[in-house]
Formats: sequence, C-alpha cells, structure tokens
Amino acid sequence: MLITFEGIDGAGKSTQVVRLKRHLQELGREVLTLREPGGTEVAEHIRELLLLSKHDIAPVAELLLFAASRAELVQKVIIPALDEQCIVILDRFSDSTTAYQGYGRGLSLELLAEVNRIATFGLRPDITFYLDITPEDALIRKFSEKSLPLAFDSEELDRMESSGLEFYRRVREGYLALFESERDRIEMIDAQLSPALIHERIVSRMTRVETLQQASR
Ligand SMILES: Nc1ncnc2c1ncn2[C@@H]1O[C@H](COP(=O)(O)OP(=O)(O)OP(=O)(O)O)[C@@H](O)[C@H]1O
Ligand SMILES: [Mg+2]
Repeated sequence: MLITFEGIDGAGKSTQVVRLKRHLQELGREVLTLREPGGTEVAEHIRELLLLSKHDIAPVAELLLFAASRAELVQKVIIPALDEQCIVILDRFSDSTTAYQGYGRGLSLELLAEVNRIATFGLRPDITFYLDITPEDALIRKFSEKSLPLAFDSEELDRMESSGLEFYRRVREGYLALFESERDRIEMIDAQLSPALIHERIVSRMTRVETLQQASR
C-alpha cells in the first residue's frame, strides 16, 4: 500500500508520518517512510540543489529536477518495497509537483501530468492525506518552532520556502483543486486540529481503505 502526505511547508506532514509509522508498526506491519525530494544517493544530491542552494533555477528545470529525484526513488526504492508487501509512506509525492510547479510557478498542468506519469512510472497512491492550512498560519508555526521573528526573507528559510506568501496562496489553491477533483483518493484534514485528533482521522481512514482492499481481494 502506498500512502502519501501533502500540504504546504509547516502543515504538519512529518509530525503525522512519524505517528502513523509508529501506529502501523505496533500493528506488526512492515513500514517504510521516505521524504521527497531525496531517498537515494543521487536524489539526495538533487535535494541539496533544490532546497539548500540559493540558485535561481528556471521553473522547467526545477520541475525536471524534482521529477528526476522522484524517478530514482520510485524505481530503486518504492516499487521494490511495495513488491515486498511493505506499507510505503511518502512525505510529499506527485501532488506536490502539481501544487507547487503547476499552481505555484504557473507551469502547464498538462505538462505536469505527463512529467508526473513518467516520474512515477504510473504509480498512484492508494490514499493521500492532505493537511490544509493557510500560508500565514503555517509560517507562524515554522518561525515559532525556531523562536525567530516572522520574515519571508529570513536566512532560515530554504529555497522553496523563500518564495513568498502569494506563491504559497497559489500552492494551497492547487491542493484544494486537486482535492475537489480526486475526492476518492485524497482525504483533506484541517491541519489546525491537534496532532492527536489529526492522527485519529488518519487511522480511521486507513482502516476504511484496508477493509475495502481486503473485501475486493
Ligand atoms: N496539528 C498541529 N498543531 C500545531 N502545531 C503542529 C501540528 N502539527 C505539527 N505542528 C508543529 O508545526 C511545525 C511544522 O510541523 P511539521 O514539521 O510536521 O510540518 P511539515 O508539513 O512536515 O513541514 P515541512 O514541509 O517544512 O517539512 C512543527 O513545529 C510541529 O511541531
Ligand atoms: Mg516535513
């Protein structure tokens, strides 16, 4: 089973990935958690370029770098793990491309669909948890976490995070549009709920998906 977490930076994805992993392991399941971009030697180098560098990267080049990192991860790690019946939990996947490079940077959605199809080898998540939060609230979280004053030009932000509030508003619109068009796959959860309550919702949806999958076998 392939589970993905989506949402803008600071929505609480990593927090929930850790909780869900622990929960599934307690049930005796094999779980692999991965974060994008990265996860193979080459993909980690691409991650450095994309996030840690301050390079000005052309939007299409940015798209293809994310896609290259994803193709590495899918082919070398995700598909083999799924073949071993492992539950794979991804912190970001193809919806991030649609939201960030499509709605955020303004690249053609048709182009993105094609690039996503190539980079994922057609792999589609069984369930996607989208944690919804406004960019303002997410930013407040990120800065309070680091006890820093609120500023979008802060040295503490990575390359993507420095893209500004308007950019993040568009990204959120993108996620909401994705949710509207794929409600069967995407579960939207209010990211301002407590971590415990969000976890409960996630577990309840997981149980429903697993029951459905067992029934269809
Ligand atoms: N439900 C919540 N309510 C309040 N604060 C939260 C909640 N979930 C996470 N946080 C806090 O918000 C901050 C960001 O959370 P987290 O790192 O999990 O987000 P993220 O979506 O993984 O962000 P990024 O995309 O930057 O990796 C952390 O300080 C975390 O403790
Ligand atoms: Mg995270």
